[in-house]
Amino acid sequence: MSSTIQAVRGMNDILPDEAPLWEFFEDTVRDWVRGFGYRPIRMPLLEKTDLFVRSIGEVTDIVEKEMYTFVDALSGESLTLRPEGTAACVRAALEHNLLYGGPQRLCYAGPMFRHERPQKGRYRQFHQLGVESLGYAGPDMDAEHLVMVARLWKTLGLTEISLQINTLGSAPARARHRARLIDYLSAHLEALDEDARRRLHTNPLRVLDSKNPAMQELIEGAPRLLDELDEVSLKHFEELQAILRQVDIPFEINPRLVRGLDYYNFTVYEWVTTKLGAQGTVCAGGRYDGLVEQLGGKPTPACGFAMGVERLISLLREAGGLPETSVLDGYVVHQGARADAFAWAVAESLRDAGLRVVYHCGGGKFAAQMRRADGSGARYAVIVGDDEAACQEVSLKPLRALEAQARVSVQEAADIMRSGRQISAAQAGAAP
Ligand code: HAM
Repeated sequence: MSSTIQAVRGMNDILPDEAPLWEFFEDTVRDWVRGFGYRPIRMPLLEKTDLFVRSIGEVTDIVEKEMYTFVDALSGESLTLRPEGTAACVRAALEHNLLYGGPQRLCYAGPMFRHERPQKGRYRQFHQLGVESLGYAGPDMDAEHLVMVARLWKTLGLTEISLQINTLGSAPARARHRARLIDYLSAHLEALDEDARRRLHTNPLRVLDSKNPAMQELIEGAPRLLDELDEVSLKHFEELQAILRQVDIPFEINPRLVRGLDYYNFTVYEWVTTKLGAQGTVCAGGRYDGLVEQLGGKPTPACGFAMGVERLISLLREAGGLPETSVLDGYVVHQGARADAFAWAVAESLRDAGLRVVYHCGGGKFAAQMRRADGSGARYAVIVGDDEAACQEVSLKPLRALEAQARVSVQEAADIMRSGRQISAAQAGAAP
C-alpha cells in the first residue's frame, strides 16, 4: 500500500466543520470594511524577493529566516511567497498609479507565508485581513483605524482585547535614540546574547524586542525612544491619544513596542489578548510614511494594520462559535424509476424558491436514504416515491421537530420549508 501524503507542516486545512465560522468572520469583515469606505484589492501570492527585502528590512526575522524564497527555474528570478501584505499593496498601488486618483483606503485578505516554528496561533501559512490608507498624514487616520478595529471587536462580541500603542518617532529622533542605544548596549556587551550582538550595529532597536529572559533587565534599563522624541512626533502621538480619549477607546502606552518590520515610523500599535497564550497579538500595525518613496513612488504618508485570522477564529470559537443553525433546508429522498426523474425537478424547484437542498445520490434503500437525510443536518426530508411522482407531489417530513409528515404539492413544500411554519393537521392527515 502506498503511504499517504500529509500537508506541509504549519499549513492547515480548514475543514467543513470549521469553515462556516471562517465564512461568518469573512462576511462580517466584508461589511465592516465597506462600512468605513475601504475598497478591496487583491495582490498575487508571489512577489519578487527584492520587494520584501527593501520594505520589511534586511535585518529582520522575516527577511533573515522566515521567507519562502526560491529561484524560478524558468526565469531565473528570485521569488518569495508573500510574508505580509503591506509591501505588495503599496507595490500594486504604485504600479497601477492608484495614487493619481488621490488618497486611497484599501483592504485585502488572504494567506501569508512565514517559515516560523509552528505552534498554537503561529503557522507557516496563515491568513491576514489587512487595511492600508495611502496618502493620509494626520493622526486622524491612525485613529480611524483604531476606531474601525474597536468596532469589529464589538460586532464580533470579542471582549478582553486591549490596545497598546507607541510611537517610533521621526527619522532624526530615531537616529538619536539609535546612537544612544548602541552606546548603552556596547557598554553591556557581556550581557548580550548572540542575536543581540549581531543586531547591535545593524538593527539595535530590535534588541529591545528580544524575548530572552536573561536580557530583560538590560532591556528594562535601556534608553527610551519616548525620551528622544521631537516636537512633530510628540504632537502626532498626543493628538492621536486625544482622539482615542474622545472616542472612548482605552489604550495603554507601551514604550517597548517596536514591531518586527522596519518600515514603521510614528504610530505603532498592537491589539493583544491574554486568552491565546504566547501568541496573543491579534492585530497590529502603524504608520509607514517612508515606504511609498522607498519603493519608488513620490513621498506619500501611509498607515495600516493587519489581523491574524486564525487567532481571531480561535477567540470566536472560545466565545461559543456560531449559533447552531442548519445549513441545509431539505434532503431529497427518492426511489423508483418515475420518482428518480421527478425528484430532480423537485430539487430544482425548491432551489428556485431560495432553499438549500441536497439531492440524494448513490441510490440505496429508502431507510438508508432517510438515515443520510438525518445525518445531513437538513431540516426536512423531501420524499419522492413513484406514488408522489404520479401526483406531482412530495411527502415532507420534518427531521428536527416532532411533527407528522405531510403529502403536499412542491409549491406548498417550498412555502412550509421557507417559512418554517408547522405542517397543518389537514396536510398531515393527507399523508399516506
Ligand atoms: P505583523 O505584526 O507581522 O504585521 O502581522 C500582523 C498579524 O498577523 C499579527 O498580529 C498576527 O495576528 C498575525 N500573524 C503574523 N504572523 C503569524 C503567524 N505565523 N501565524 C499566525 N498569525 C500570524 C504585518 O504583517 C504588517 N503588514 C501589518 C501592517 C499593515 N502594518 C501596516 N499595515
